[in-house]
Amino acid sequence: MAKPVNLAVLLSGGGRTLENILDCIREKKLDARVVVVISSREDAYGLVRAKRAGIDAHCVPHKLYQGDDAGKFSEEINKILSLYPVDLIVMAGFMHLFKSGEKYKGKVMNIHPALIPSFCGKGYYGHHVHRAVLDYGVKISGCTVHFADNAYDRGPIILQAAVPVKDDDTPDTLAARVFAEEGKLYPRAIQLFAEGRLAIKGRKVYLKPEKAPGK
Ligand code: GAR
Repeated sequence: MAKPVNLAVLLSGGGRTLENILDCIREKKLDARVVVVISSREDAYGLVRAKRAGIDAHCVPHKLYQGDDAGKFSEEINKILSLYPVDLIVMAGFMHLFKSGEKYKGKVMNIHPALIPSFCGKGYYGHHVHRAVLDYGVKISGCTVHFADNAYDRGPIILQAAVPVKDDDTPDTLAARVFAEEGKLYPRAIQLFAEGRLAIKGRKVYLKPEKAPGK
């Protein structure tokens, strides 16, 4: 078992990604604990899930920070993060740009419901992504876990998984197929981080070999 990593989870919506992480921790598939949850919306159901699990939950309403280029919004989030012993910030359905600053360089992960660099960037979140995928007519979509830098969906890619796009897909059916993969991919990436197995070199993330038991 790796030493548990302390996670801060940033979310904006339903919080299924948070719930999945909590389940994986409970089932001992993930050496982690969630020390704080921060939502960008007061009405995010993810906040309810966090409180139900006994996790400190805060809200920094994004609507109060329109047009500040994520600066002040991120500052408020960083202030809350500084109150907790955070090893890794996990964006879990977080719909805004977050600038973590130097302190958390290489320690912020995001999951995006498409194969980056396709269908990503500002405005591509949730169902907008799946709608765009279907409108374009691609045959394969998927999800991407990457380290986040200070731009939308740009940082080095850690893991990707592909799913087929079917002729009769709707945004809902495609989202469900992609989300099923997300539920496996994100915990795997977080566990690799916990085990110290991710090395970032420029745009690339290399996977270090597993340590032999007892070493
Ligand atoms: C997930 O599909 C996640 O990949 C996506 O939002 C959903 C969150 O669901 N994230 C993005 O679109 C970020 N660009 P949840 O709120 O129920 O966890």
